[in-house]
Amino acid sequence: MSTLWHGRFDDGPAPELMAMSVSLPFDRRLATDDVAGSKAHVRGLARAGLLDADETDAVVAALDQVAEELASGAFVFEPSDEDIHTAVERRVTELAGPAGAKLHTGRSRNDQVATDLRRWTRRAMVEVGSAVADLQTVLAARARDVGDAYLPGYTHLQRAQPVLLAHHLLAHAWALGRDVERLLAAGERADVCPLGAGALAGSSLPLDPVATAADLGFSAVFDNSLDAVSDRDFVAEALFALSLLGVHLSRLGEELVLFCSEEFGFVRLHDSWATGSSMLPQKKNPDVAELARGKAGRLIGNLTGLLVTLKGLPLAYNRDLQEDKEPLFDSVDQVLAVLPALSGLLATATFDTDRMADAASGETTAATDLAEHLVERGVPFRDAHAVVGALVRRSLEEGDGSLADLVADSEHFAADAGDLFVRGAAVERRRTHGGAGPVAVAEQLQRFEAHLDAERARLEAMVATLSEG
Ligand code: ARG
Repeated sequence: MSTLWHGRFDDGPAPELMAMSVSLPFDRRLATDDVAGSKAHVRGLARAGLLDADETDAVVAALDQVAEELASGAFVFEPSDEDIHTAVERRVTELAGPAGAKLHTGRSRNDQVATDLRRWTRRAMVEVGSAVADLQTVLAARARDVGDAYLPGYTHLQRAQPVLLAHHLLAHAWALGRDVERLLAAGERADVCPLGAGALAGSSLPLDPVATAADLGFSAVFDNSLDAVSDRDFVAEALFALSLLGVHLSRLGEELVLFCSEEFGFVRLHDSWATGSSMLPQKKNPDVAELARGKAGRLIGNLTGLLVTLKGLPLAYNRDLQEDKEPLFDSVDQVLAVLPALSGLLATATFDTDRMADAASGETTAATDLAEHLVERGVPFRDAHAVVGALVRRSLEEGDGSLADLVADSEHFAADAGDLFVRGAAVERRRTHGGAGPVAVAEQLQRFEAHLDAERARLEAMVATLSEG
């Protein structure tokens, strides 16, 4: 078997070594980035006078053919292709002959793989960000179409105060907006070109990493060759952004599971977005929401695994770094599977707004408003809290419907306190900035839609820039 390093070795690698160390099965996904990086490197070699015009043309043509073969599936991999970089270089050399053998001049797989993975990460973060924006769009559309429907807001999963359903949906949408910012920040962090760092120390040849970085469409170039080949911070940051996104999707999933239960009965899933049971004929299960919740564990595992891989590594490149790719690819794949499914589930789900309103209209949901009614009459809040708390305690002994009577009989309250028990009154009264009532939520929804428009414009601009590079 012919390896890239055969000159120094009497014997080829053991099959077990190859079986353990081969990364081709997963780093094939870097193929287009590897070819793009190689072409930029070839142009750099030409500018440095290390390839003449004919050689340059021959190698670029070979790289184009390799790209076509890889895209069409015609590319034939050899057992000696331990990774995508080896495969591409091997095929270029077959096609371009001696000129192809000059491709790897002044380059190492160490700077090459870092370059490829940075390009891949930058693009993936934008792709995931766009899928998140799609989910936010669904949440905002549902927030608009549910109007002034309301449900109990919970703390400690105990009914606390009523909130508009739109407010609840938008709470998730804003959190997802921060995820998009984190994803794009991770993409920007990846946007530094390591090409020209060589194996670890740069080159004695007259290469110009600054020009190559610009040629390859990177925003910046590495400052330190050791750092350039050993830095995987950008992967860890991407995995963190994906993990926190996963945590948010998990919380949304958990709520959907709860709300679909008969106990809550707030949400009914469209048949296309639910699953049945192989044994229990009556079942309609929220598997999408459960998997959205379940994937978070895996995403966090991918982040944790990479951090542990990195923690003991001396400078510069170590083969351990090959372990960076599978967790990254997996986390991106998982969220790209979850996001459209959750979007579809939410776009088609039915909200039982009567049941929500019933759950949010118990007398005790007026408790805070009763205390605030007393505050408006000059009672210190702590005293008001105690007065209302005592009435609630008595009403629980006397039974449902008695709180309104107790308030009516109490000397503490004005006659209009009874209005606070009117269905929907408690949510209507929450008017402060960012609050849960119709007036405040209408303003919030406008702000959110403007935020989403700006986010979309930013994502589209990034997609356009990346498709040029
Ligand atoms: N396949 C390797 C990786 O993913 C890249 C090559 C560097 N290998 C090496 N022995 N220097 O990190």
